[in-house]
Parts: sequence; structure tokens; C-alpha cells
Amino acid sequence: MCGIVGYIGDEQAAPVLLDGLEKLEYRGYDSAGIAVFDGKQIQIKKAKGRLKVLEELTHDGANMPGSIGIGHTRWATHGEPNDTNAHPHFNSKKTIAVVHNGIIENYLKIRKKLEKNGYKFLSETDTEVVAHLLDYYYNGNPLEAITKVMHRVEGSYALGVLFSDHPDKVYAVRKDSPLIAGKATDGSLIASDVTAVLKHTRDVYYIDNQEIACLAKDSISFFNVDGEPITKESKHIDWDANAAEKGGYEHFMLKEMYEQPKTVRDTLSPRIKDNHVVIEDMKMTDADIKKIDRIHIIACGSAYHTGVTAKYVYEGMARIPVDVDVASEFRYRDPILGKNDLVLIISQSGETADTLAALRLAKERGIRTLAIVNVVGSSIAREADEVMYTWAGPEIAVATTKAYSAQLICHYLLAIRFAKAKGLVDDATEASYIKDLEKLPDQIELLLNNKERIQKFANRYVTAKDIFFIGRGIDYAISMEGSLKLKEISYIHSEAYAAGELKHGTISLVEEGTLVASVVTQEELYKKTVSNIVEVKSRGAFVLAVTNEGNTDIEKVSDYVIYVPQTNQYFTNSLAIIPLQLFGYYVAVGKGCDVDKPRNLAKSVTVE
Ligand code: F6R
Repeated sequence: MCGIVGYIGDEQAAPVLLDGLEKLEYRGYDSAGIAVFDGKQIQIKKAKGRLKVLEELTHDGANMPGSIGIGHTRWATHGEPNDTNAHPHFNSKKTIAVVHNGIIENYLKIRKKLEKNGYKFLSETDTEVVAHLLDYYYNGNPLEAITKVMHRVEGSYALGVLFSDHPDKVYAVRKDSPLIAGKATDGSLIASDVTAVLKHTRDVYYIDNQEIACLAKDSISFFNVDGEPITKESKHIDWDANAAEKGGYEHFMLKEMYEQPKTVRDTLSPRIKDNHVVIEDMKMTDADIKKIDRIHIIACGSAYHTGVTAKYVYEGMARIPVDVDVASEFRYRDPILGKNDLVLIISQSGETADTLAALRLAKERGIRTLAIVNVVGSSIAREADEVMYTWAGPEIAVATTKAYSAQLICHYLLAIRFAKAKGLVDDATEASYIKDLEKLPDQIELLLNNKERIQKFANRYVTAKDIFFIGRGIDYAISMEGSLKLKEISYIHSEAYAAGELKHGTISLVEEGTLVASVVTQEELYKKTVSNIVEVKSRGAFVLAVTNEGNTDIEKVSDYVIYVPQTNQYFTNSLAIIPLQLFGYYVAVGKGCDVDKPRNLAKSVTVE
């Protein structure tokens, strides 16, 4: 979703801002703009469409002189994507420029009041309200005006602000939308996430809720909502700048799929000690674990899908009942949470608005929370009682692959740890689980190396209208993710069904040649799913089967088979998902889709 950058320093600001915005492109956007103080006044240039439109408009920034500025990529919420609604927004005198990420919920009320006071609005955005409200409160003291605005607006915001009569400062403030500040040798920066500043610095400050940052060329100072100075410590980011580059791959998504063996290894190996699962980042003791009555897994999208798989794993291994909820449903349904329950939050970005709200709801009710998060220092990572990081590095493609794989590993490790604490798994079983887990990176690599075969198969389906995915148990969870991967990047309609449920309605959609991808890795459910394959096949479906090596008799009922290496039944998701990711990717590439930045989608969904 919207991306913010800001810079003050020795270099010309516009190229630095454009470069930062490029790094934030992956978040999803439909227009972009920058504001630069040129020595006399603030200049704004903005344009609907891809960043390259803005780059052309500004000659890659060359025609915007000045070394202080703010920039923005907008993912439209209030008002259609067009040049006028694009950020930055000015006050009427063009002395205050604002970029904003989030939603000002009471903007209509404020807008009406400002209009009564003679303020004229040019756009349909909620953001323009902030520019005029700052003007309304401004009497020469930026900090004072900002704190007054913070007390007045409701909703979520990360703001970057320029005042033309304070041309040596960039102001930044946030509530429930991500924003970081970084100090580099040649200046100071703000950005929605660290990828945009990595080129300049790896020492960043996480601006907390309702905090204000004031950036000067040589220093950054912080203030609370009352305008009082506060001290903050910077955090060193280990991700190197190259991690956020394509590195010769055609798309970030392909690169990230290829990073999965490493991601799985990096997430797994620090937590294996002497053939035992040791999760040092988790403070929960054996006694705490034994007390857990129920686990509530809460997440969105693919992260939710890892939860659907994990339910089978926690319940099977550790015999702890698990509810899995989509965060946007959980937060509004007054959930029943017991005092000994554990709320397990899953998020790559650590900033997903609904997931964050669900976490806060659990905390308000006094329930223990544990978060599996990829982005270090993100809101969810900071607010959860405990955090277990997925060591996937920056994920740029909107469609998640490597973070998804890393989340699965965290679930497996937690399940083993819980089962061990409850005395349900002995040392020998633990060692055999570990052995299988340690094989996963090489097995994933093997599957990735089979990409040409999947590419050829995918090319046949670029014109498909509907594609169905079916499976039972963990295979159903895999199907959900396979289906989402395909539809979100290729725009082909797809649904995932519990294989036994298909005949209760959806099978009527199967016609001659409809592709039904069937996931069949759970041996005890093998025969049941094969029956469902036969049902769709006899109605004309073309059946792709993804199954374990050795299950060759599936060829009798399927048209095309992809074999995955043998592993423990709990861990098959980590392998079976790889060909399905590749399938979705190659269908989208074959259709000429913008794989890394699918239409209407944002990487970090920071509004509900
Ligand atoms: C799909 C995808 C999304 C995310 C979802 C949650 O490929 O990436 O469905 O999984 O938006 O995002 P996070 O994990 O950042 O909370």
C-alpha cells in the first residue's frame, strides 16, 4: 500500500526520492508524486500510473532542484487514481506539503468544518484534509501544528510534511501505519520500510505510534504527541542492499521462489541444537505450554493458509485444539478467548491492519500472544508478547512465496516444541522430524530445478477460464495457497475445494477440459482423494495430480502427474507448494501479466 519517502541532505533530493519510491513499488500503487523545496518554494510533481511516468515528467528528478523533499506512491482509497488525487497535497498557499499513508476516518467532518472556514479542496482524498488542517493550526511552529492535528484526526496515518518556512527540516509522524527514519552519512531519510533506505544506511529508528520525527541534515530528533522530546535508539538492519534487487532474475517472484531453500534453512537451523528443537526467541516454558487450552491462529491471505496447514500439525502432534481465523473476521466477531489460550499471529509484513487489530484485541483481553513475523521491528513484531522471526529477508513480489515457506517452518518447529513439552513426542521421534525438516531445503531445490516441465504445462493454460484445486486435510490447505497464487497473478478464476465437498455444488462447473489440480500427499487420505479425482475426470476434467514419489498408480486416473519427494506427512506442504507456485508464475508470465505487481494488490495491506 502507499509508500512514503523523505530526504534531507547533501544530495539532490528528487533522484533520491525516486530511487526510494522505486524500492517501495512492490507495496502496490496507482500514482506517484514528489515535493521538493527548491530554495524559494515547494514544487510538486505527481502523475497517475507507474513511477516511470513521474520519472519522465521530472527527467529522473533532474528538473527538480533542491536537497529536501518528500515522495509518495499512492494506492487509492478515497478518490480514484488520478493526477489530482495523487500525493503530495498542498495547503492553499502552497507552503505546506503532505504525503500520507493510512486512512483519516473523520476526514469528512474535518473537511466540512474547514470548508466553512473558507478552505478550498482540490481532491477527493482524506489526505488533503491534513494539509489544510496543518495550515489552520499553523502559527510558525511546525511541531505545535502537527501535535494539534494528531489530537484532531482519527484513523491511521504515516505522514511526511514539508513547511516552506522551515526549509531545513522534514517532519514525519505515525499512528498505525509503518514509518521508519534512518541517519546516513550524507543526510537523513524517512520511509515506509527499510528497503527504501538500505542504499543509504542500515541504522534505522522505528517511529512508534503517535511519535514525531524531525529530520535535519545532520540529526534526527523525536517528540511525543505532546511535543516533548524523547530519546530513541537506532536498530541495525542486517539485510544487505542487494537483497532487495532482482539479481538477474526476470521477476522478484522467481528470485524469491529460488531463495526458498535458503529461507527454509535460515529459519530452521538456528532453532536446532543437538538434535532438539530449541526456540530461543520464545520465552514460554514447558509449564506455560502445558497450560495452553486452545490456539487461535489469526492472519490474512497466504499467511492464513499456513495457519490452515498448521491446524493439522498442532492438533496432530501436540493435541492442542486450534481455531484458524481470517483476521478481518476475527476482530469483529467478539471471539471467545479463554485465559489459557494462545493467540498466534502470522504476518510477513508485520503491518497488516486487520492482523494488527486482531493482535491488539487479544492483548486487550489479556491473552498471551505470539507472532510469526518476517519484518524485523514491524508493528506486530513490536506489539506481540513474543515474536518468532521468519528469516526470509525482504520479500518484494506482491505474491508471497519464501515468507510463506518460512512461516510453515516456524509452525512445524512450534508444534514439535509444544508436543515435546507435553510429553507427546519422545527424543527419537523428535530426531526423525528434525531429519526430515533438514532435508527440505535440498528437496525444494530439486523441485525448483524441474521448472521447465512445469513451464511447458503452464503454457497450455494461459487462456483457461477456470481452474480448480482440490485436496483433503493438509492437501486442502496446499490447494488454497496454490489457487491463490494462480489467481492473484494470472487473473484466471480459480477456487480451492476440500475434495469431498466438490460434489455438493461446485462440480457443476466442471466441463470438458476444465483443469482440476489435485493435491494428494496425505497417504491416509489417498484413496478418498483418488475417488474425487475419478468423479471430476468422468465429467470431462483434465486432472493434474501432485503426489508423493512412489504413488505411480495415480497415473491411471490423472492426465499429468508431478511427484514430490517423500517427507513426513506433516511437512508435505513445504514441497507440494513449490510446483504450484511455479505453475501460477508461468501461467501469469505466459499471459504477459505484471507478475511482481498484480493489478489492485498491495504488498503491505495497512488499511482494513
Ligand atoms: C498472497 C499474499 C497475501 C498476504 C496477506 C497477508 O500472495 O501475499 O495474501 O499473505 O496480505 O500479508 P502479511 O503476511 O504481510 O500479513
